[in-house]
Amino acid sequence: MSLAINLFSPLQLGCYTLPNRVVMAPMSRNRAGEGNVPTALNATYYAQRASAGLLITEATQVTPYGQGYPATPGIHSPEQVKGWQRVTEAVHTRGGRIFLQLQHVGRISHPSLQPNGVLPVAPSAIAPEEGEAATYEGSKPYVTPRALETDELPGIVEAYRQGAENALAAGFDGVEVHGANGYLLDQFLRDGTNKRTDAYGGSVENRARLLLEVTEAIVGVWGADRVGVRLSPSNTFNSMTDSDSKATFGYTINALNRFGLAYLHLIEPSEADERHGGTLTPTVYFRPFFKGLLMTNGGYDRDKANAAIARGDADLVSFGTLFLANPDLPERFQSDTALNAPDPSTFYGGDERGYIDYPALELQVR
Ligand SMILES: Cc1cc2nc3c(=O)[nH]c(=O)nc-3n(C[C@H](O)[C@H](O)[C@H](O)COP(=O)(O)O)c2cc1C
Repeated sequence: MSLAINLFSPLQLGCYTLPNRVVMAPMSRNRAGEGNVPTALNATYYAQRASAGLLITEATQVTPYGQGYPATPGIHSPEQVKGWQRVTEAVHTRGGRIFLQLQHVGRISHPSLQPNGVLPVAPSAIAPEEGEAATYEGSKPYVTPRALETDELPGIVEAYRQGAENALAAGFDGVEVHGANGYLLDQFLRDGTNKRTDAYGGSVENRARLLLEVTEAIVGVWGADRVGVRLSPSNTFNSMTDSDSKATFGYTINALNRFGLAYLHLIEPSEADERHGGTLTPTVYFRPFFKGLLMTNGGYDRDKANAAIARGDADLVSFGTLFLANPDLPERFQSDTALNAPDPSTFYGGDERGYIDYPALELQVR
């Protein structure tokens, strides 16, 4: 009898042998310390979850101009690098592997989060239609961002490259480029937010240029086998639209093949995307476009994930809210144990409550 491949089948991802395919999805928890420096509390949180095949950190700004929410960590100051060293050491001590998610939020920021209160930057001067900016003083209306000049774009690429180099110094095992969920790189990709007339706007080749340049710069630091890219083709969050998302993401995913990345991380369409009238394209549609490992995410439980892997629709599955609430999610999946329920009231910001106090299973020696 041959056993089907499932979440517990080991997998070679780039230069790492993962003991399982249960990945912790990137999740902002807004609990960084002063100066947006990771703390011992953050180290405990990630170390508790070290049995994941791979941990992906919360989105981490590569420049102070890329911050979009209170208390999100950065990777641009020496103190932040030191703070992250604490996290990576704690995870490695528990035998885990951890990639840093590199972020610039673009227009989702607010002047109150920007150095000297300047306007957030974006491909074009278009404010998000829905929602509000999250600031230290509570929610505020979004401002219309400033469109980046063409000659500023090398500086954006350099910020990502420097962030990648800092991540290496912080002891990470790799990095994930955040190209999803309506932040800067996604704003460039999609034609609802990108109305540029230079080499970075118009055709899909031009709209994908910044993501590809950023990826190339990061691959130059890390080597492709320790770099992943996250995309969200169906996402409508942060007022994102595209007139032809299948073509936009089909081209982009195909173009990413040139690097030989560790993985591509795609987010499935959600109920919110459906409510907002987005084009709902399941990740399996893009499977044939990518010539490497595909990680899927969004609404998966154990059985759905096992089925996707057994069918060959994806190679790994990342779990967000379930991992947030279950520090030992792989063990619970494997032993078919009941799961802790996530508490949304403690998702963003706060202290150790709803962060490091979700119970793990008692160790049972039989
Ligand atoms: C509290 C919270 C914070 C999140 N922060 C991020 C983030 O920093 N970067 C990112 O790419 N996605 C982020 N997401 C999206 C998750 O990675 C994931 O796509 C989403 O939770 C759907 O997966 P799930 O159904 O397994 O929870 C966040 C989700 C949650 C619930």
